[in-house]
Amino acid sequence: MSGRKKLILDLDTGIDDALALAYALGSPEVELVGIIASYGNVTLHRAERNARAVLEALGHPEVPVFRGADRALSAEGEFAPSEAVLRIHGSNGLGEQDFCAAADGWCYSAPRDGMAFLARSVDAYGDDLLYVPTGPLTNLAMALVREPRLARALPCVTFMGGALAVPGNVTPCAEANIHNDPEAADVALSLGLRLRMIGLDVTHQAILTRSDTASWRELGTEAGRLYADMTDHYIGTYEQNNPHMGGCALHDPLAVAAAIDPSLVECLRTNLRVDLSGATRGRTVCDPRRLRDAEKNHEVALAVDVPRFLRLFRERVGRALAS
Ligand code: BDR
Ligand code: CA
Repeated sequence: MSGRKKLILDLDTGIDDALALAYALGSPEVELVGIIASYGNVTLHRAERNARAVLEALGHPEVPVFRGADRALSAEGEFAPSEAVLRIHGSNGLGEQDFCAAADGWCYSAPRDGMAFLARSVDAYGDDLLYVPTGPLTNLAMALVREPRLARALPCVTFMGGALAVPGNVTPCAEANIHNDPEAADVALSLGLRLRMIGLDVTHQAILTRSDTASWRELGTEAGRLYADMTDHYIGTYEQNNPHMGGCALHDPLAVAAAIDPSLVECLRTNLRVDLSGATRGRTVCDPRRLRDAEKNHEVALAVDVPRFLRLFRERVGRALAS
């Protein structure tokens, strides 16, 4: 199909990142032109390996994977995922499923600079570019600091992260992607870039159940089986930690869906920032100094058409897993 938007995913692959990747590959309106790997749910090396392995399993080994940041802007030591994250996403980030052992060797191929790839893509595709980070915002902040012109040149960036009117999921105030690098998120939010926030306000409404994963198993494909087993691992951790939700939250797929079709969500226009100190560190808030500014750079999703999103999710992920 011609006239498709060019999509870059910035993933800390992670189970729901892998679901977002399948959603993207099953979406006819976009061409996935590259993935930038990030630390977050896993280390950077593991994220790069997982992205390649999932692409292979979904029949798209041609999509390039670029290397992003391996730690938060202010971090001194190497990043290591917490015990809680290792339980939620599994020790390999993919619910202990062996997507593609061959990807292990690729992980250490020549490094390809993800931030330079993002800048090149802005020049090449202009307004046709969709850039969707679903991990910490470190890669975006580094790209903006390196090339400030990107703040004006990048079309609206839809990201998964934050929590405005609901509690966080790591601390009472902080959502995981913002918690991993509050300084980077604050840089991204303070430089005039247009951003659409798909945070816990909406992602905790979009729930996947075991009946969906059972239907993937029935496809009879290797990808369907891997995704079903991987996602059942994720649902299992929600059954333990958040039994009232009745399944797992589709955080990252909702960000991709809203980037492709913003009419899925209803947003508050505002100017955000991130609390950087004290007990509320990592909290996304409306910037009290900019509440009356006429210019609003940010849209925060507060409502989502759940039935329509789930219909799209089933169609698109089902398509990606079918062969
Ligand atoms: C976000 O944190 C990560 O663990 C998930 O992949 C998602 O991007 C949810 O808070
Ligand atoms: Ca993620």
